[in-house]
Amino acid sequence: MIVSQLHLTDFRNYAEETFRYREGVNIVCGGNAQGKTNSAEAIFFLCTGYSPRAKRDKQVIRHGQTSARVSCEAQTRYGSVSAEIRFFSDRNKEVSVNGVPVSRIGELLGNVNSVFFNPGELRLVQESPEDRRRFLDISLSQLSRGYFYALQKYKKILAQRNNLLKEENLSLIRETLPVWDAQLAAAGAKIVAERNAYVRMLSPFAGEAHGEITGGRETLTVTGDYRYEGTEEEICRQLADALREKADKDIELGYTTVGPHRDDLKIRVNDSDVRTYGSQGQQRTAAISLKLAETEIFRERFGEYPVLILDDAMSELDCSRKRRLQSFIGKMQTIVTVTEKEDVPGYEKANIIRVEDGKIMSD
Ligand SMILES: Nc1ncnc2c1ncn2[C@@H]1O[C@H](COP(=O)(O)OP(=O)(O)O)[C@@H](O)[C@H]1O
Ligand SMILES: [Mg+2]
Repeated sequence: MIVSQLHLTDFRNYAEETFRYREGVNIVCGGNAQGKTNSAEAIFFLCTGYSPRAKRDKQVIRHGQTSARVSCEAQTRYGSVSAEIRFFSDRNKEVSVNGVPVSRIGELLGNVNSVFFNPGELRLVQESPEDRRRFLDISLSQLSRGYFYALQKYKKILAQRNNLLKEENLSLIRETLPVWDAQLAAAGAKIVAERNAYVRMLSPFAGEAHGEITGGRETLTVTGDYRYEGTEEEICRQLADALREKADKDIELGYTTVGPHRDDLKIRVNDSDVRTYGSQGQQRTAAISLKLAETEIFRERFGEYPVLILDDAMSELDCSRKRRLQSFIGKMQTIVTVTEKEDVPGYEKANIIRVEDGKIMSD
């Protein structure tokens, strides 16, 4: 898949701009705080309806304006697609796909696909289980709308179950809990089954990428929780059992202690936990390798690579790792943001877009 154009209107520090990308490597360069990441964020927003950096949608509206608009055109093996999001200061965003308004974010997912990496993604290997679950959730939501809907449902039921657990009336809790448990186990089973399959696919791809970037000097493995295993129905039963077993503890604590909202991934480099023992360089390489592995899963699922967005990823790698990374990014359309274009190996052949203060400069 390639994204050929991105239009921004009053998005972040852009008043009105059109980015034109080509196949292969596109370098968006410019000094600090000129709008490189903003343009990358816009693409990812159009893929997922979600921003890795904006806590609230309204933050993307250019200061002093009341609305913003982003849209893009992409060519996939199935034909052209376009996506558009309008943001408003006084109401929720509006999304359309191929010119048709969609009421649910789920309908945006899977149209334009990208994998996004920036230094913030180091959270994936450095921080809490929540960051690793978010990685799985964003990736799996793009791959499978069924996953996205199950996740939304799960979160809703979980919140209701947790509210119930905080009730004073114990007999009410005991009476109502089984109703929530059945629903929670059903939605949870879909999440667990898809995560299990995903992580099993991810690990060899991530290992391969990591091995290649490190010139074979390091091995990377990723394993899931795998506490619940088997078909979706089997997992559903296991989850229901676990919820029943932990009911007393949950009532005592006032929240739900078992289920996929407690999952984690184990990421190991050379057989030790990269979060605890990995060097900065190993953590950075592991995070990039996971993202590259994600692109391979997209290719298996959709029959083509997504757009790879590498925001500020280059400057932090040493020369040999950077050069080896080059062999991966040659495989798919890649949008790289850097301050100096010379930081990207092979930049002579790339499409270069220079941004300055929210404007595209002609070279
Ligand atoms: N809603 C907004 N309205 C106007 N400017 C914004 C908005 N959000 C961010 N900016 C500006 O965008 C700039 C940062 O852009 P960014 O893309 O992160 O820079 P970089 O080129 O370093 O990646 C900052 O100057 C910031 O003030
Ligand atoms: Mg940036």
